[in-house]
Amino acid sequence: METFSYRRQKVYDPVLRIIHAWNGLSILFLMATVWLSELFGQGVGEKTLWQMHIYLGYALVVGVVARLTWGIAGPRHARFSDMWHPAAWWNAVRHLNLQAAPRFGHNTLASGVYLLVYLLLAVMAVTGLGLAAVEHSMGPFNVWFGDMAWLKEVFEEPHEAIYNLLIAFVLVHIAALVWHERHDRTPLAQAMVSGYQYQLDSTKGDEHA
Ligand code: HEM
Ligand code: HEM
Repeated sequence: METFSYRRQKVYDPVLRIIHAWNGLSILFLMATVWLSELFGQGVGEKTLWQMHIYLGYALVVGVVARLTWGIAGPRHARFSDMWHPAAWWNAVRHLNLQAAPRFGHNTLASGVYLLVYLLLAVMAVTGLGLAAVEHSMGPFNVWFGDMAWLKEVFEEPHEAIYNLLIAFVLVHIAALVWHERHDRTPLAQAMVSGYQYQLDSTKGDEHA
C-alpha cells in the first residue's frame, strides 16, 4: 500500500468560501433559468423564468460586489494582489507550459482566469441590469434608461457572448480540479469548502510513491 504524507495549511477564509458558493450557485441557477426558458418556449412559464433570472441576477450583483470588496479588504489569500502573477502568466505563454509551481493559495495560472472571470461578471451585472431596465422596467437602472429601447442590442450581445464564455469556464474549472486531484495526488476541490489546502510532502513519508 502506498503511503503519502501531506503538509496542510488553512488558506481560504470562511467569507471567501461563502462568497464562492453564493456566486457559483447564483451562476448555475441563472444558467438553469436560461436553459428552462429555451425548453418551455413562449408563455407564462417563460415570463416567470425571466423574473427569476432577474432576481437571481440581483443576488449575483450582491455577490460580485462582496467579492470585489473582499479582494481589496480581505485576508491575504482572498486579495487580488495575491492573484496577480504576470511573470508566471508570461512564462506560461512563452513556453506553452501550463504547469504552475505548487504554492498555498490560488494556483498562479488559474488566478489569471479568475480575475478575468470577475471582469466578465462585472460586465454581466451591468448589461443584465441594463436589460432588466430596458425589457422589464425593473431594477436600479430603470430610472436612467428604462425607456431607451434601442439599448436592448447593446446590452444583449455582450450578455449572450459572456454567457457562452462562462459555460466554458465552469466546465474547464471543474475538469481542472479533477485533473489536479489526480495529477498532484492531493485533495483540492474541498479547499473551497473546508478552507484547507494540502501539498505532498516530498521530504518524508513519500518513499513508497
Ligand atoms: C463543484 C463545484 C465547485 C467546486 C468544488 C469548486 C472549487 C473551487 C476551488 C477549490 C477553487 C480554488 C482553486 C485554486 O486554488 O486555484 C475555486 C475557485 C473559484 N471558483 Fe470554483 N468550484 C466549484 C464551482 C464553481 C462554479 C460553478 C463557479 C462559477 C463560475 C466557480 C467559480 C470560481 C471562481 C471565480 C474561483 C476563484 C475564487 C476566488 O474568488 O478567489 N466555481 N473553486
Ligand atoms: C453569469 C450570470 C448571467 C448569465 C449566465 C446570464 C445569461 C443570460 C442569457 C443567456 C440571456 C439571454 C440573452 C438573449 O436574449 O440573447 C439573458 C438575458 C437576460 N438577463 Fe442574464 N445572465 C446573467 C446575469 C444577469 C444579471 C446579473 C442580470 C441582472 C439582474 C440579468 C438579467 C437579464 C435580463 C433582464 C435578460 C433579458 C430577459 C428577456 O429577454 O426578457 N442577467 N441572460
